[in-house]
Amino acid sequence: MLKTRIAVLVSGGGTNLQALIDAQKKGIINSGELVLVISDNPNAYALERAKNNGIDTFVVNKKECSSQADFEQRIIDSLEENRIDLIVLAGFMKILTANFTSRYPERIINIHPSLIPSFCGEGFYGLKVHEKALEYGVKVTGATTHFVNEIPDGGKIIMQKAVEILDGDTPEILQKRVMEQAEWIILPLSVEKVSKIIKESK
Ligand code: GRF
Repeated sequence: MLKTRIAVLVSGGGTNLQALIDAQKKGIINSGELVLVISDNPNAYALERAKNNGIDTFVVNKKECSSQADFEQRIIDSLEENRIDLIVLAGFMKILTANFTSRYPERIINIHPSLIPSFCGEGFYGLKVHEKALEYGVKVTGATTHFVNEIPDGGKIIMQKAVEILDGDTPEILQKRVMEQAEWIILPLSVEKVSKIIKESK
């Protein structure tokens, strides 16, 4: 059976991409294959990680696009050229409209650094999420993988993992713990889970 062809969309450092690459090497991801990394940022370190591992890359610089529709179309064209079955948003910082997401129902996975429905939705990204969790005073946070639809962080949940908040945590310390103890674990597991479903349906 043919493996699920996976594209990862990134904007920055790409530690979640690295977790996927490592999981593929270890065989944790086995039903799918990482074949393409798309970045909206030409300087994203994630692109180096892809190149170092023989994964094709494609850059779509939004500033060079005439509109949001043009930006999304360039991504769609690249996905189609590469016959992508599954899209993973791993620190992709640009909004994708319903025009994009509706083409890929249950075929786009996002990782969010909190336990949805807490600290999610519009404006909750990056360190902000952890700042808000600390500000509220919750004692447990975590990460969530979910399918992407037209509602920000509103699609069906795939996996969640809880992480303790400790006295003295700063947003930066908490962000690191959530990545190490939750994001880098559940993202590869979720990608394998969905890749398996897609592979079996091909
Ligand atoms: C992660 O915290 C992820 O949850 C969020 O963006 C960050 C990406 O980090 N969506 P990296 O580029 O994978 O290192």
